[in-house]
Amino acid sequence: MKNVVLIGFMGTGKTSTGRALAQRLGRAFVDLDRMIEEEAGRSIPEIFASEGEAAFRALEREAVRRTAKRRALVISTGGGTVKDAANVALLKENGAIICLTASVDVVLARTAHVGDRPVLDAKDAGDRRQAVADLMAERRELYDVADYSVDTSDLSPLQVVDDIAAYLKREGVFRA
Ligand code: S3P
Repeated sequence: MKNVVLIGFMGTGKTSTGRALAQRLGRAFVDLDRMIEEEAGRSIPEIFASEGEAAFRALEREAVRRTAKRRALVISTGGGTVKDAANVALLKENGAIICLTASVDVVLARTAHVGDRPVLDAKDAGDRRQAVADLMAERRELYDVADYSVDTSDLSPLQVVDDIAAYLKREGVFRA
């Protein structure tokens, strides 16, 4: 059975949606960021601070390589996972790719806390809204690899899960 893979910018709800969707579908859930943190024994900001982004991306590639091989999972990725074309190819091989989106203001509200997201913090030269808007614009095309996309800005978590479950049913990815 195919995996269901959630991609999208930071703060679009990939982790919370993934967990709820897995429960709905009766599937196991893997959050790549948590997997990396558990295996490294350090938080993502700590990995960025001590070893740099390249080291984090190497851990991320390794986590994708191992997870994409498995079956019938719901997988939440990090916002930058799709920057690597090899990651996208592996995830697509056996996965339906769902992109979550949200408006700049919604993402800004969900990522306001400084210290949790090193890529956004590095981009933030004092105007965090501008940093979100710029990074989102830079990355927009990366998320076009998705088979289906949901704008989560005005939806409750339950509505997002309902929307994705209906899509998967239409596509025959699951038949519950
Ligand atoms: C990143 C997003 C983060 C995490 C890391 C890098 C990015 O995940 O993987 O901080 O480059 O966009 P979330 O999208 O879950 O915040």
